[in-house]
Amino acid sequence: MTRLQRFLDETLAPGAIGALPAGPALVIGADPAEAYALPEEREAVLVQPFRPAFDALAASGRTVVPSLGEAGGGSGGGPVALAIVHPTRNRRETLGRLAAALERLHPEGLLVVDGQKTEGIDALLRQIRKIAPPLAVEARRHGKVFALRPDAALLEAAGGWAEAARPRRNQAGFTTAPGMFSWEDVDPGSALLAEKAGPALRGRVADLGAGWGWLAAQALANEAVTAVDLIEADHGAIEAARQNVTDPRARFRWEDVLRLGPEAEGFDAVITNPPFHQDRRARPELGIGFIGAAARILKPRGTLYLVANRHLPYERAMESHFRNWEIIAETPAFKLFEASRPIPPSGGGIRHRRRR
Ligand SMILES: C[S@@+](CC[C@H](N)C(=O)[O-])C[C@H]1O[C@@H](n2cnc3c(N)ncnc32)[C@H](O)[C@@H]1O
Repeated sequence: MTRLQRFLDETLAPGAIGALPAGPALVIGADPAEAYALPEEREAVLVQPFRPAFDALAASGRTVVPSLGEAGGGSGGGPVALAIVHPTRNRRETLGRLAAALERLHPEGLLVVDGQKTEGIDALLRQIRKIAPPLAVEARRHGKVFALRPDAALLEAAGGWAEAARPRRNQAGFTTAPGMFSWEDVDPGSALLAEKAGPALRGRVADLGAGWGWLAAQALANEAVTAVDLIEADHGAIEAARQNVTDPRARFRWEDVLRLGPEAEGFDAVITNPPFHQDRRARPELGIGFIGAAARILKPRGTLYLVANRHLPYERAMESHFRNWEIIAETPAFKLFEASRPIPPSGGGIRHRRRR
């Protein structure tokens, strides 16, 4: 049983101090690993912007939406009785989620917050305690869960939290929101890729993990580019990209790169600054998965341009998925790969040849 489920089932059991109120529930940042101990008769909307987790929740038959804008409140847009919030690693984004939950919560409702230490749950709880004492707090399995009533002090603080979390123009003049990758300014790795590979692009281009669209916008500055597919798993980021990139050659796809098939693809080039972190842990297998996806969706004569932090071990994946690859630019922090002649997934009888 998870920490949250035990809290809902036992700490907030009927008759207990913050017993779960009846009525609709809203879960922000829903986790596919949680059952939420929500009785079948409780109407519940789960919000999950990250496509792989969204797909997992939808596959289990639950009502899931990608954004708060689509969550409404309870039936007919009324307030919810129970709001459950999972924090993210970005404090402003987390507080924005709390504000959104408080805004939709019935005055007699209950707000439950459950998160890991790695997501900053301890610091969040310290901040909340200065405003309103939680009804109950439990620490278990490297994390904490606590419950709050929507009292006046919290509601007042929520106004500032919502304001701090809302999308705004960043230093590059693009609309972004806290929590998106490199939301305050252009990532230097992406800038390296745009500078060195941008002029070489032509035809149909895919930007894998396109974020809020800066790199795709640079690719579109090249007139030899006929189309750019921005493929991104974070719903907020792809919606920001839609606002930022108004070129008619752009197509916006809220999809999981790791599940892209070869069907109907056929790109002349793939550009990517792949994800390398999840939950604060380095996850090189994400970038390795992106290299495999690029090989699947490229035309036989297509080219991949991938930028990565220098320490990330992508060379073996390049070797397995491309007949030719080389590092075409390096800085103290980044390396830029160019790879061509993708090896078909079966790989049958192909000699690996490395050009360096
Ligand atoms: C290092 S960031 C690069 C973002 C953007 N291209 C830029 O240069 O600022 C990697 C991006 O990949 C996205 N991402 C992570 N996992 C993904 C997946 N499985 N499918 C699609 N996008 C994913 C992240 O949300 C993030 O926006």
